[in-house]
Amino acid sequence: MNTKTARMTLLLGLLAGTTAWAAAAAPTPVPKTRKNDLTPLPAAGNPPVTHAPFESGECDLCHKSADPKAPGPITKPVNDLCFDCHDDMRQVLARKSVHVAAQKSCVNCHNPHNAKRKFLLVEKVPGLCMSCHEAIRTIATQSAVKHDALTTGASCLNCHNPHGASVEHLLIQLPFNLCLSCHGKDGVLDHDGKKLTNMKKLLDENPQWHGPVAAQDCTVCHNPHGYKNFRLLNHKYPRTFYSAYDPKLYALCFECHDPDIVAEPVTTTLTGFRDGNRNLHYLHVNKPVRGRTCRACHEVHASKQDHQIRDGVPYGSTGWILKLHYTKTATGGSCAKTCHGKKTYNNRDTGLAKNGPGAAKKN
Ligand code: HEC
Ligand code: HEC
Ligand code: HEC
Ligand code: HEC
Ligand code: HEC
Ligand code: HEC
Ligand code: HEC
Ligand code: HEC
Ligand code: HEC
Repeated sequence: MNTKTARMTLLLGLLAGTTAWAAAAAPTPVPKTRKNDLTPLPAAGNPPVTHAPFESGECDLCHKSADPKAPGPITKPVNDLCFDCHDDMRQVLARKSVHVAAQKSCVNCHNPHNAKRKFLLVEKVPGLCMSCHEAIRTIATQSAVKHDALTTGASCLNCHNPHGASVEHLLIQLPFNLCLSCHGKDGVLDHDGKKLTNMKKLLDENPQWHGPVAAQDCTVCHNPHGYKNFRLLNHKYPRTFYSAYDPKLYALCFECHDPDIVAEPVTTTLTGFRDGNRNLHYLHVNKPVRGRTCRACHEVHASKQDHQIRDGVPYGSTGWILKLHYTKTATGGSCAKTCHGKKTYNNRDTGLAKNGPGAAKKN
C-alpha cells in the first residue's frame, strides 16, 4: 500500500468512525437480563435504603393485591410501572444512545422495595456492570496495563450513564472531553509514579494537532478500559527511546502510515525525511540495535512544528529534555546541537546520496 492509499483508507476509516480495536474485540453476547432476588429485605434488618412507595405499605401501587403477605403479580410490565412515577426516565430512555439493560427491565439493577445499596441497587458498580459485561471485566481486571479511571470515583459511571445518553456508547460527554476532564491537570501519576502529561495544556500550547487528535479521537489509539500494551495503546508501540527495529513494534503507527517509510534504505518517493535518495527514516529507525523510536523526533498528540516534530525529548531516566532544534527549510529541514552537530537534509534533490548505508544497500 502506498502512502496515498494508506491515508485514504485511514481517512475513510476516521470518517466512518470505525476503530481498529473495536472491530477486533470478540463479539461476546451480553445478557439482557440478570437474575436478582427482589424479595423485600425484612424491616427488622433495617435495610439502609427503602423505596418510598414500598415504605408506604401500599403493595397495590404495583401489585394486584394490597395484602403484604400475598401481593400477587405486578399489574403491568415493570418499566411502565416505574415510568408512572419516574416520568423523567422516559426522556432519558428516549436519548440517542439507550442502554438495552434498562430498556429491558429496570429491575435488572434496582430492587423496587429496599436494598443495602444507595439508589436501591442490587449490586455495587462496577460489579453490577461487569456481571453482564464479561468482556469488559476481563479487559479491565486482567490487562497488564490498567486504567484507574475504572477504579476511582464513580468507576464505570465516570464515563457512562447507566440509562441513556446523547453521546453514543452511553457516554456522558464526547470521549475527547471525557479524557481531558481527567487528563487536563498536572500531577496525574501512572502506576510507576511517573507524572503524566497534562494533555489539555499540551493541546492548548501546541497548535499542530496530529490527524486523529484533530479528529478528537483518543480511543482510535487508546483503549479506555485497559489493555495489554504500554499506555493502553490499541496496538504495539515501543516504550523506550531506543529499540532494535522490528515493524511489529510499530503496529500502532503502521495502522495508518506506510511501513515502507522506514523499510527502504533508498527512495525518492516514500518519505520526505530523506537527503537526496538516502532515507533518513531508515537510517535513524531501522537498526538492529539502538534504532531511534518515533518519539525521538515526533510528538504524537500535538507539536509546535510541522510534521509533528517535537521541540525536545525526555532523555535518560532523570527527565532531562534534549532540545531538537529542528528547522523546516524550503527544501527539507535541519537539526542542530542534538544527538549530533547541525545536519541538513534536502528532499528536493533526487540524486544518489554520496555515501552512507542508503547508497550502499540499494537493490
Ligand atoms: C414500586 C412498585 C412496587 C411496590 C410498591 C411493591 N413491589 Fe413487590 N415487586 C415489584 C416488582 C417490579 C417486582 C418484580 C416482579 C417481576 O419481576 O415479575 C416485585 C416482586 C415482589 C416479590 C417477589 C420477589 C421475587 O424475587 O420474585 C415479592 C415477594 C414482593 N414484590 C413483595 C412486595 C410487598 C410485600 C410489597 C408491599 C409491602 C411490594 N412488593 C410492593 C414492585 C413493587
Ligand atoms: C408510586 C410511585 C413510584 C413508583 C411506581 C416507582 N417509584 Fe421509584 N421512587 C418513588 C419516590 C416517591 C421516590 C423518592 C424520590 C426522591 O427521593 O426524590 C423514588 C425513588 C426511586 C429511586 C431512587 C432511590 C434513591 O436512593 O435516591 C430509584 C432508583 C427508583 N425510585 C426506582 C424505581 C423503579 C426501578 C421503579 C419501578 C420498578 C420505581 N422506582 C417505581 C416513587 C415511585
Ligand atoms: C444497568 C443498570 C441499571 C438499570 C437497568 C436501570 N438503572 Fe437506574 N440507576 C442505575 C445506577 C447505577 C444508578 C445510580 C446513578 C448514580 O450513581 O448517579 C441509577 C439511578 C437511578 C435513579 C436515581 C438517580 C437518577 O438518575 O435519577 C432512578 C430514579 C433510576 N435509576 C430509575 C431507573 C428506572 C426507572 C429504570 C428503568 C427504566 C432504571 N433505573 C434502570 C442503574 C440502572
Ligand atoms: C442485565 C445485564 C446488563 C447489566 C447489569 C449492564 N449492562 Fe450494559 N449492556 C447490556 C446489554 C444487553 C447491552 C447491549 C449489548 C449489545 O448490543 O451488544 C449493553 C450495552 C452497554 C453499553 C454499550 C452501549 C453502546 O451503544 O455501545 C455500555 C457502555 C454499557 N452497556 C455499560 C454498562 C454499565 C456502565 C453498566 C453498569 C452500570 C452496565 N452496562 C450494566 C446489558 C447489561
Ligand atoms: C475513562 C472512561 C471510561 C470508563 C471509566 C469506562 N468506559 Fe466503557 N467506554 C468508554 C469509551 C470512550 C467507550 C467507546 C469506545 C470507542 O469509542 O471505541 C466505551 C465503550 C464501552 C462499551 C461498548 C463497547 C464495548 O467495548 O463493548 C461497554 C460495554 C463499556 N464501555 C462498558 C464499561 C464498563 C462496564 C465500565 C466499568 C467497568 C466502563 N465501560 C468504564 C469509556 C469508559
Ligand atoms: C475519571 C478520570 C479519568 C478519565 C475520565 C480518563 N482517565 Fe486516563 N487515567 C486516569 C488516571 C488517574 C490515570 C493514572 C493511573 C493509571 O495509569 O491508570 C490515567 C492514566 C491514563 C493513561 C496512562 C496509562 C498507563 O499506565 O500507562 C492513558 C494513556 C490514559 N489514561 C488515557 C485516557 C484516555 C484516552 C481517556 C479517555 C477515553 C482517559 N484516559 C480518561 C484517569 C482518567
Ligand atoms: C495516534 C495515536 C494516539 C492518539 C490519537 C492519542 N494518543 Fe495518547 N498516546 C499515544 C502514544 C504513542 C503514547 C505514548 C507516547 C510516548 O511515550 O512517547 C501516548 C501517551 C498518552 C498518555 C501518557 C502521556 C505521558 O505523559 O506519558 C496520555 C495521558 C494520553 N496519551 C492521552 C491521550 C488523550 C487524552 C488523547 C486524545 C486527546 C490521546 N492520547 C490521543 C498515541 C495516541
Ligand atoms: C530522527 C528523527 C525521526 C524519527 C526517529 C522518525 N521520524 Fe518521521 N519524520 C521526521 C522528519 C524530520 C519528518 C519530516 C520530513 C519532511 O521534511 O518532509 C518526518 C516525517 C514523517 C511522516 C510524514 C511522511 C514522510 O515520511 O515524510 C510520517 C508519517 C512519519 N515521519 C512517521 C514516523 C514514524 C512512524 C516513525 C517511527 C517508526 C518516525 N517517523 C520516526 C523525523 C523522524
Ligand atoms: C488512526 C490513524 C493514525 C495513527 C494510528 C497514527 N497516525 Fe500519524 N497521522 C494520521 C493522520 C490522519 C495524519 C494527518 C494526515 C497526513 O498528513 O497523513 C497523520 C500525520 C502524521 C505525521 C505528520 C505527517 C506530515 O507530513 O506532516 C506524523 C509525523 C505522524 N502522523 C506520525 C505518527 C506516528 C509516529 C504514529 C505512531 C505512534 C502515528 N502517526 C499513528 C493518522 C494516524
